[in-house]
Amino acid sequence: MLAVRGSLLPVLFALLVRCDPAQAVADLLDAASQSSSLSSALRLLNSTIGGKLRTAVPFEKACFSIVEGLHVNVSAAACAALQTNYTNPVYRVDYFGAYMLPQWETCQASSVTNGCLLDSNNVSNPLAFDGVDCRLGNVPPYYINVHSVKDVQAALAFSNLTGVRLSVKNKGHDYKGRSSGRNTLALWAGVFTQDVYEFADSINRTIIGGYHQTVGFSGGYFLGGGHSILTPVYGLAVDRVVEVKVVTPDGVYRTANECQNQDLFFALRGGGGSAFGVVIESTHRTEPKFALQAAVLRFTPTGSDLADWYSLLVNNSLQWANDGWGGHIVGPSLIHVTPLLNTTAARASMQPAIDFVTARNGSAVIEELPSWLAFFEKYVPSAQAAVGPELDLGTRLLPSRLFSTASGRAQLSALINETLAFASPYLVAGTPWLYKPRAGAAGATATTPAWRDAVWHLSVKWQFEYNDTLAARADGYRTLSAHIQRFRDLAPESGAYFNEGDVYEPDHEVAYWGTENYEKLLAVKRRYC
Ligand SMILES: Cc1cc2nc3c(=O)[nH]c(=O)nc-3n(C[C@H](O)[C@H](O)[C@H](O)COP(=O)(O)OP(=O)(O)OC[C@H]3O[C@@H](n4cnc5c(N)ncnc54)[C@H](O)[C@@H]3O)c2cc1C
Ligand SMILES: *[C@@H]1O[C@H](CO)[C@@H](O)[C@H](O)[C@H]1NC(C)=O
Ligand SMILES: *[C@@H]1O[C@H](CO)[C@@H](O)[C@H](O)[C@H]1NC(C)=O
Ligand SMILES: *[C@@H]1O[C@H](CO)[C@@H](O)[C@H](O)[C@H]1NC(C)=O
Ligand SMILES: *[C@@H]1O[C@H](CO)[C@@H](O)[C@H](O)[C@H]1NC(C)=O
Ligand SMILES: *[C@@H]1O[C@H](CO)[C@@H](O)[C@H](O)[C@H]1NC(C)=O
Ligand SMILES: *[C@@H]1O[C@H](CO)[C@@H](O)[C@H](O)[C@H]1NC(C)=O
Ligand SMILES: *[C@@H]1O[C@H](CO)[C@@H](O)[C@H](O)[C@H]1NC(C)=O
Ligand SMILES: *[C@@H]1O[C@H](CO)[C@@H](O)[C@H](O)[C@H]1NC(C)=O
Ligand SMILES: *[C@@H]1O[C@H](CO)[C@@H](O)[C@H](O)[C@H]1NC(C)=O
Ligand SMILES: *[C@@H]1O[C@H](CO)[C@@H](O)[C@H](O)[C@H]1NC(C)=O
Ligand SMILES: *[C@@H]1O[C@H](CO)[C@@H](O)[C@H](O)[C@H]1NC(C)=O
Repeated sequence: MLAVRGSLLPVLFALLVRCDPAQAVADLLDAASQSSSLSSALRLLNSTIGGKLRTAVPFEKACFSIVEGLHVNVSAAACAALQTNYTNPVYRVDYFGAYMLPQWETCQASSVTNGCLLDSNNVSNPLAFDGVDCRLGNVPPYYINVHSVKDVQAALAFSNLTGVRLSVKNKGHDYKGRSSGRNTLALWAGVFTQDVYEFADSINRTIIGGYHQTVGFSGGYFLGGGHSILTPVYGLAVDRVVEVKVVTPDGVYRTANECQNQDLFFALRGGGGSAFGVVIESTHRTEPKFALQAAVLRFTPTGSDLADWYSLLVNNSLQWANDGWGGHIVGPSLIHVTPLLNTTAARASMQPAIDFVTARNGSAVIEELPSWLAFFEKYVPSAQAAVGPELDLGTRLLPSRLFSTASGRAQLSALINETLAFASPYLVAGTPWLYKPRAGAAGATATTPAWRDAVWHLSVKWQFEYNDTLAARADGYRTLSAHIQRFRDLAPESGAYFNEGDVYEPDHEVAYWGTENYEKLLAVKRRYC
């Protein structure tokens, strides 16, 4: 069932029709205004969009013998395929009912299970599915596989007509669950990062994007900021987008760039996914194909090794940022790249870390790869962030003073050392440290200015279990927020990354955008939405 708010008031459609003369939409509105029920409105919507309306099913359904209260036969083969690939993003991404952080498939505020999950720690754990009722939970019951601007306009008109809310899903990576929504009508489309990398490479170009195969390229990623391990040299995704074509909530298809709808263009460069309309198309600056140096280091820590390792990283990261390095550090594993150095200089730059790791019998590889794609294919799929487990993040952008002064380094190292007792920090060297945005409005983006002075984007995570109680879930979100609070206290003047931030981020307007940007965003919102 879809949620309905308001009544079906034909008089309101006129406004939309005037904004959008597309005949298909006008026909829908005209027909729908004669109809009295939601199901006939859905039928009309479906015919308007050429039969592309679909009903959703839970991704995990194949393993369950009870679905929405009805007994069904389990397909052993389909269940086994699902289990094999439960945490594989390339598999999940093809299913509308699958979200990468699967707690967002469920109604988390419900005290009784209202969802359909496997145990991601052990996908064959029968306690997760035997005799358990698999429910659609927070997955939108209807979705449109969007193929054209008209599909989106028809959905907006339908929403306006019926009061049914819309959700927009690209590739389902939202850490805050904003691409699902119980009783919403969903719009689903988009290409993912690895495909874009492969295409760019095939025409001898490099496109700058995230550290994951299936993050959507032209949705939440750039709308919320978009970091890459090439960001230190080439900027954030918001720095590189040159044009966005978007259907705003009034149904109008607009082009936003440096010359047209500049206010909207500003808002779309960091204001956040689905906040200002539905993106149909975006254009991004590319670079020629280039070779880069990769540093791949890991060791097995014992005793105080991890604390010393983080201290070494804190001591060296400003120099590495100046040398163009960007990368990720997960516990005793570091993968970085720089497009600015040759192999000899890269090795010299990384020497303190190489010595540390080698002294602990670890491995340290410094190598030149011929292209970004060659690096990505060799190293990223096995190192990228996990999907399938129920995960929540809290993050902080760590400013340069914590790396450039002895007291800052001592404070940061000590805090990380304390944190190791209850959480493992995930460090992203993916801030635009060497990148200079263009002056004035052309380079103005809506993300927090804290990005521009940060050396690390640090996160800590919390993992939920498939069967956590309501109290345990609530406690998990609160505990995570308390963990990241220590880093907010360390750098109160800084901010956090909207796309990967805590759902309970205090003063989120300031943390994600900064007061000045937030006020501008609010004004744009009032203008277009
Ligand atoms: C495993 C993993 C790895 C990640 N790695 C990185 C990384 O390396 N760098 C980085 O910066 N971030 C990374 N992220 C965060 C990521 O950028 C955000 O979660 C991003 O919003 C995901 O986009 P999506 O399209 O896949 O997700 P979705 O959940 O489909 O959408 C995210 C948000 O954008 C909105 N949206 C989607 N498409 C559109 C559209 N066409 N028009 C308007 N709004 C739209 C949705 O409504 C939602 O609010 C990662 C996330 C995960 C889960
Ligand atoms: C929409 O129409 C197509 C083609 O007629 C049909 O196959 C599909 O089931 C319809 N969708 C819904 C949700 O009824
Ligand atoms: C399940 O399988 C049994 C035996 O093959 C069959 O009789 C029954 O109709 C099936 N039930 C459903 C819901 O498909
Ligand atoms: C797992 O997913 C991959 C990628 O989509 C696919 O090629 C493979 O066939 C899947 N395996 C099973 C058992 O379904
Ligand atoms: C996963 O669960 C199955 C079924 O209960 C059990 O046989 C198996 O040992 C478990 N595997 C792990 C790694 O715990
Ligand atoms: C439909 O759009 C009109 C004009 O923008 C607006 O006044 C009205 O509240 C909308 N109706 C619904 C149900 O959203
Ligand atoms: C890319 O570069 C290679 C090597 O220089 C060349 O052979 C190839 O034709 C180029 N491809 C395109 C699409 O330009
Ligand atoms: C980092 O630098 C501090 C002095 O600024 C020093 O005390 C500490 O030992 C260094 N850490 C490592 C691992 O070298
Ligand atoms: C590597 O780069 C350094 C610093 O720019 C330079 O001095 C050196 O000659 C280069 N080495 C090679 C082999 O190109
Ligand atoms: C170092 O690693 C090698 C090979 O992995 C192993 O044979 C050796 O025992 C290790 N030495 C120590 C001191 O751990
Ligand atoms: C880390 O904390 C432990 C106590 O938990 C302390 O013994 C150790 O000296 C600290 N190490 C560093 C590098 O601060
Ligand atoms: C969740 O399931 C596991 C086994 O899969 C069980 O050990 C645990 O007690 C369950 N937790 C709750 C809160 O029911």
